[in-house]
Amino acid sequence: MPNPPRAKVIVTRRLPEPVETRMRELFDVELYDADTPMTREQLADAMARADILVPTLGDRIDQGLLARAGENLRLIANYGAGFDHIDVQTALQRGIMVTNTPGVLTEDTADMAMAMILSVLRRLREGTMLMQQGEWQGWSPTALMGQRVGGKRLGILGMGRIGQAVAQRARAFGLQVHYHNRRRLHESTENALEATYWESLDQMLARVDILSIHCPHTPGTFHLLNARRLKLMKPSAIVINTARGEIVDENALTRMLRSGELAGAGLDVFEHGNDINPRLKGLDNVLLLPHMGSATVEGRVEMGEKVIINIKVFVDGHRPPDQVVPAML
Ligand code: DGY
Repeated sequence: MPNPPRAKVIVTRRLPEPVETRMRELFDVELYDADTPMTREQLADAMARADILVPTLGDRIDQGLLARAGENLRLIANYGAGFDHIDVQTALQRGIMVTNTPGVLTEDTADMAMAMILSVLRRLREGTMLMQQGEWQGWSPTALMGQRVGGKRLGILGMGRIGQAVAQRARAFGLQVHYHNRRRLHESTENALEATYWESLDQMLARVDILSIHCPHTPGTFHLLNARRLKLMKPSAIVINTARGEIVDENALTRMLRSGELAGAGLDVFEHGNDINPRLKGLDNVLLLPHMGSATVEGRVEMGEKVIINIKVFVDGHRPPDQVVPAML
């Protein structure tokens, strides 16, 4: 008997080489050579032809595109943990399952958040600039004095996997851990992390020296850090964002950084993707990174392995391990 036809998998962006090789072995896969996002028309065409689509961040899969999806499209196996670029509700209504890749980027993202906390408090960006521009005049008792890390209060907004991984690292640096989360952690986890829970985000913001953002971007968290809330923070405080730019009102943050109402920021993500407020770029007290929190070879390959497992399990007729369900929206 001939083998049944294999599911047609279309990938929208170049993926790490070992992931593409494995996909070629396992699926009838159409890979995408370019390291730039597909255009809307290319995405629509892929969705019209695929049984399974593998998109990633930057591919805005909205109601309009889902309406043009082919009958055969049954799974969107996202390469990435965040799925705020996909209209999951509409996908589910159309009988299209969505999966993501949680867990494998936790430690890398937490490392990056910690690195940004250290960099901003200790002014590493300014030190590097001075060296690279050849302007260093030698040691000085008063040059580039930053803030001591140990003893500061760290507020973690969103205490899921990544938030908890940041808390673990923070303790080793002598930071006091505070957190706000939709749900309070179990007492044993709180004790293990020596973390103080704040039911009121506003009250926590007023007391912390560092705010690190680790909640997902949902309609409920859009501009959670708006001008009013940012103004509750101390002028000596810093904001670190490795989650999603939309959670912070970027214009309000920029204004406050410029006026000295906040001391600094470390941003790996931006409200409008790579279209960054030009005024942010000119600030000395800001460290800007190109969304590289999960960018390790190991992490990016493991993300691909998760995509592959989700597809394989789905094709075998079972429930994929990383299915996005309505409760997560
Ligand atoms: C994700 O997977 O959503 C991350 O933001 C990528 O770094």
